[in-house]
Amino acid sequence: MANLKLSNVSKSYGATKVLKNIDLTINEGELVVFVGPSGCGKSTLLRMIAGLEKITGGELQIDGQVVNDTPPAERGIAMVFQSYALYPHMTVRENMTFALEIAKVPKKERNAKVEEAANALQLTEYLDRLPKALSGGQRQRVAIGRAIVRNPKVYLFDEPLSNLDAALRVATRIEIAQLKERMPDATMVYVTHDQVEAMTLATRIVVLADKGISQVGTPLELYEAPRNEFVATFIGSPAMNLIPGKITATGATTEVALDGGGTAISNIPSPDAAMGRQVNIGVRPEDLTPVEEGQPYVYRGEVDYVEALGEVTLLYFVAEAGRSGVIAKLPGIHRDTRRATVAVSAPAEKIHLFMDGQSMRPE
Ligand SMILES: Nc1ncnc2c1ncn2[C@@H]1O[C@H](COP(=O)(O)OP(=O)(O)OP(=O)(O)O)[C@@H](O)[C@H]1O
Ligand SMILES: [Mg+2]
Repeated sequence: MANLKLSNVSKSYGATKVLKNIDLTINEGELVVFVGPSGCGKSTLLRMIAGLEKITGGELQIDGQVVNDTPPAERGIAMVFQSYALYPHMTVRENMTFALEIAKVPKKERNAKVEEAANALQLTEYLDRLPKALSGGQRQRVAIGRAIVRNPKVYLFDEPLSNLDAALRVATRIEIAQLKERMPDATMVYVTHDQVEAMTLATRIVVLADKGISQVGTPLELYEAPRNEFVATFIGSPAMNLIPGKITATGATTEVALDGGGTAISNIPSPDAAMGRQVNIGVRPEDLTPVEEGQPYVYRGEVDYVEALGEVTLLYFVAEAGRSGVIAKLPGIHRDTRRATVAVSAPAEKIHLFMDGQSMRPE
């Protein structure tokens, strides 16, 4: 297995720059997940690692070797796409052995590898079927099996589960997690739009935005200490609430008088020079709890809309001019909250602070 190193990698299509200054090291055994808005260059980055797309600037190393000009087949990489791209006229077994036949691997060895992969992916009973006689999840497992038998140095996945229905997605996600556990040295890079996949599968998440990397960290680092407002609102669902205000006390903790009338105290320290500065506080919907009338609150407003999911209730407060409304996520069932006026607050360790879009949390 292998490590990957991208140094100052960039990509342009003609005059259009899609990615720039990408510096990233992926260690052997890691499962790194790329997330970011549609069109931010996730697939492009993956395809450059695979060798399917030319690198316009910078350097890509696999195990210390520069591979910018190495053809895809010689990079030791296997890629699994959203569309399974199976050969329709070949059985599952033939689909899985095809690449090995081309590579002139002896038949006995080929068969052993297919049996092993089929076993790991619970495909043994389907080996003689054609792809059309399989479900979406089974087809995606064949595509993964086809990658495994080649024993690649690096696995690349581009939204492998996005064609599956919700239940199958969960099941296949857990299978991928278990597969990774059985292959602790395998290096994997995985692109997804799905928050839960990113949070549960990743050893580290790379958030791409504005043609570059916005933040890299473990899932919980990104959740607990987002570096900027973009990452803060991108990771987590519903998104973190941002509420503007002015700093009214500085020091070991920071107090903010919020434009809506509330007060927030954050345990993020601030310098005296920050006094009076305009900031946004960030608070996650799940960190807000209702407070009694007359108690200090971070936000108080009329509930516009309620989504009762049983497990949790989402309260959507009336949006103020030019701003999206605050959302609170309360555990359990809360009846009769629509149109009620509710005040909510959060503990100091749950209040994030952003000045000019950047977190004020010390690194
Ligand atoms: N062959 C191409 N020629 C010109 N522009 C391209 C080409 N391929 C991709 N792009 C542009 O590069 C940008 C990045 O595309 P990419 O497919 O990597 O995005 P993505 O992050 O994977 O998006 P999605 O989440 O929608 O899959 C997009 O703005 C896209 O329009
Ligand atoms: Mg893509």
